[in-house]
Amino acid sequence: MKIGTLGSGTVAQAIARHAVAHGHQVVLSNSRGPASLAGLADELGPLAHAGTPEEAAAAELVLLAVGWPQIPDATAGLPHFDGRIVIDATNQFASPPPHTKIADLGELTGSEHVASLLPGARVVKAFNTLYGQYIAADPRHHAGRQVLFLAGDDADAKTTVKDLTAAFGFAPVDLGSLREGGRLMQLGGPLSGLHALKQD
Ligand SMILES: NC(=O)c1ccc[n+]([C@@H]2O[C@H](COP(=O)([O-])OP(=O)(O)OC[C@H]3O[C@@H](n4cnc5c(N)ncnc54)[C@H](OP(=O)(O)O)[C@@H]3O)[C@@H](O)[C@H]2O)c1
Repeated sequence: MKIGTLGSGTVAQAIARHAVAHGHQVVLSNSRGPASLAGLADELGPLAHAGTPEEAAAAELVLLAVGWPQIPDATAGLPHFDGRIVIDATNQFASPPPHTKIADLGELTGSEHVASLLPGARVVKAFNTLYGQYIAADPRHHAGRQVLFLAGDDADAKTTVKDLTAAFGFAPVDLGSLREGGRLMQLGGPLSGLHALKQD
C-alpha cells in the first residue's frame, strides 16, 4: 500500500516506521517542503519518500497528523479524495501547553469536523488516544498487544485500517461511528490516553 502523511512529526514518523517495516511505501509531507524531509526519508529507507502535501494526499491511504490549529491550512486546497481513506490521528488541542484548551465543536466530534474539511474522504479516527511512545513502540508487549481504538462511518475503510494496524501488531478495537466512537476517543472522552493491552 502507498501511505501519505500530512505532517511528519512524532506521530507520523512512528506510523511511517511501522509502515516501511511492513513493506509499505510512505510519502512524507509537511508545510516546509520535501527538501526539509529528505534526511528523514533517507533514514526510513528506500520505501520512504518526501513529497508535497498534494502528493501525500494522493496516496491510497492518508494519515492526518498535524496540530489541531494547523488542520485548516494542511487540508486547504487538497483535491477531492474520491473515497480514499484518511486516518485522523489528531487531538483537538486548540492551544498548546501550558494554557491548553480543547476546541469545543458542540455536537460535532473532532473527526466529523475533520471529515467536513476533506471532501470525498472516508475518515477513520485512530491512534489519537495513544501517547506517541506507545505508537512508536512494538505493539506486541509481553502482556499482550497494544489496543488501538478506531472509529469511522465506512465499514470497508475501517476494515482496511484494522487489517493494516493488526499487521503492525496492534489489537484494533472498533468503537463505531465518528459521532459515537469518536466522542469516546477524543480529548475529554473516557478512552483518551487510555493504554490497554489485549491478550490473545
Ligand atoms: N505526540 C503525541 O504523543 C500524539 C499522540 C496521539 C495524537 N497526537 C496528535 O497528532 C497530531 C500530530 O501530533 P505530533 O505530536 O506528531 O505533532 P508534531 O510532532 O508537532 O508534528 C506536526 C507535523 O505537522 C507538520 N505541519 C504543520 N503545519 C502543517 C501544514 N500546514 N501542512 C502540513 N504539515 C504541517 C509539522 O511540520 P512543519 O511545521 O515543518 O510543517 C510537523 O511535521 C496532533 O493533532 C496531536 O494532538 C499526538
